[in-house]
Amino acid sequence: MMTLQPLNLSDRGEMLQLVEFINAHYRAAVPLTEASVASGRTRFFWAVVEGARVGASAYVERTPTLAETVKTVIDPAHRGKRYGEMLSQAIEDQVRGDGFKKVMTTVYIDNLPMIMIKLRQGYRFEGFHPDHERPGWHEYSFGKVFA
Ligand SMILES: CC(C)(COP(=O)(O)OP(=O)(O)OC[C@H]1O[C@@H](n2cnc3c(N)ncnc32)[C@H](O)[C@@H]1OP(=O)(O)O)[C@@H](O)C(=O)NCCC(=O)NCCS
Repeated sequence: MMTLQPLNLSDRGEMLQLVEFINAHYRAAVPLTEASVASGRTRFFWAVVEGARVGASAYVERTPTLAETVKTVIDPAHRGKRYGEMLSQAIEDQVRGDGFKKVMTTVYIDNLPMIMIKLRQGYRFEGFHPDHERPGWHEYSFGKVFA
């Protein structure tokens, strides 16, 4: 059973741990910074299984009805145990529970694990974004409108 534990923004040590964890295990054109996390614009969560932090995820409000999930990552030591699938579902449930009507995300085109997870969870392919964050880094977008 996986739960989402909101990042405690008043605990600088915890914030730095999260920044380090995500930058170590998540490929991104621009590294996550303490300042961007501290701004609170993106809501970050730890993924917790049996008391252990096995991953992290986040979402950002794009409009009052649309949220984009970002930085979904499982600790390499815990991959292949369906935690990625559970975390994708958990962050979606969080977005839905927070009152949004639609969730979307972008995924690098070679990230087969996450593409398979999103398609299996009922997301629709919504777009191809060539040279998106950086030349040569292509992404797909996937979205799900809540019933
Ligand atoms: C993507 C990620 C979260 C998946 O986490 P995970 O816990 O290893 O994934 P799961 O165990 O839940 O795998 C679920 C499904 O993904 C697919 N999958 C996993 N590894 C795969 C691979 N190497 N190739 C193709 N599909 C794969 C499979 O469909 C798998 O289901 P199956 O076991 O029935 O085959 C993890 O690899 C990760 O943190 N990667 C780095 C960060 C990242 O890319 N995040 C996503 C950004 S959008």
